[in-house]
Amino acid sequence: MHNILLSLTSRIKGSLFKIKTNINVLSKGTWFAVSSKLLIRRNAHIELKRKVTIYEYGKIIIEDNGKLFINESSCVERGSEIIVYKDASLCIGKNTGIGSYCNIRATGKIQIGDNVLIAQFVSIIDGQYEYKDKTIIFGKEHFKVEHVCIGNNVWIGIGAILLPGVTIGDGAVIGAGSVVTKDIPPYAVAFGSPARIWESRT
Ligand SMILES: CC(C)(COP(=O)(O)OP(=O)(O)OC[C@H]1O[C@@H](n2cnc3c(N)ncnc32)[C@H](O)[C@@H]1OP(=O)(O)O)[C@@H](O)C(=O)NCCC(=O)NCCS
Repeated sequence: MHNILLSLTSRIKGSLFKIKTNINVLSKGTWFAVSSKLLIRRNAHIELKRKVTIYEYGKIIIEDNGKLFINESSCVERGSEIIVYKDASLCIGKNTGIGSYCNIRATGKIQIGDNVLIAQFVSIIDGQYEYKDKTIIFGKEHFKVEHVCIGNNVWIGIGAILLPGVTIGDGAVIGAGSVVTKDIPPYAVAFGSPARIWESRT
């Protein structure tokens, strides 16, 4: 554990690197962490498998008991912001690319499959405030978490937004600028706001 931390910190230059107690970092990946921020809180767990690459200018925050797992040969491109909140988890499969300036915030569970291609400026969130009752005061107690699941071999176009609770089936394509509000079945090509199915891949 000590050696892993040493090798990790030695790769991080010019970055904000804060480690609180009981964190567990298992890294076989590479961090190009110029101007990056990595903030890990109590009992957080980060596991980066072989050939994982995290590029510059990003921000990764893992709150208490949060878990970030990135499987082999995946990468997070420049400037992306990943936040795993308290007790939440984010799992990214093998050979998956998270494009530049993406915004991924796990408050419960976000799962991204293998061979997924996520373009730039994509947002993925898994929680929102309850709002129907007009007496609600927006705050933690009215925050509802709905897991997001992205299958294998999915392509998500630039600037798409995936809202809480959606599942994207294997092989689906999500067009640029889409707002995905409902599940998208496997191999569907969907786009627009809200995203509608245009066709199916043959
Ligand atoms: C979804 C997508 C793959 C479809 O491509 P395509 O099959 O060539 O689609 P077409 O250009 O033939 O468009 C078909 C129709 O859908 C509309 N359309 C296509 N993509 C759309 C999108 N993202 N949002 C809204 N409408 C879209 C077109 O305007 C066209 O409408 P029309 O028939 O009324 O003229 C493509 O438009 C797209 O969004 N690609 C993502 C590109 C990207 O993000 N690249 C980043 C690099 S990883």
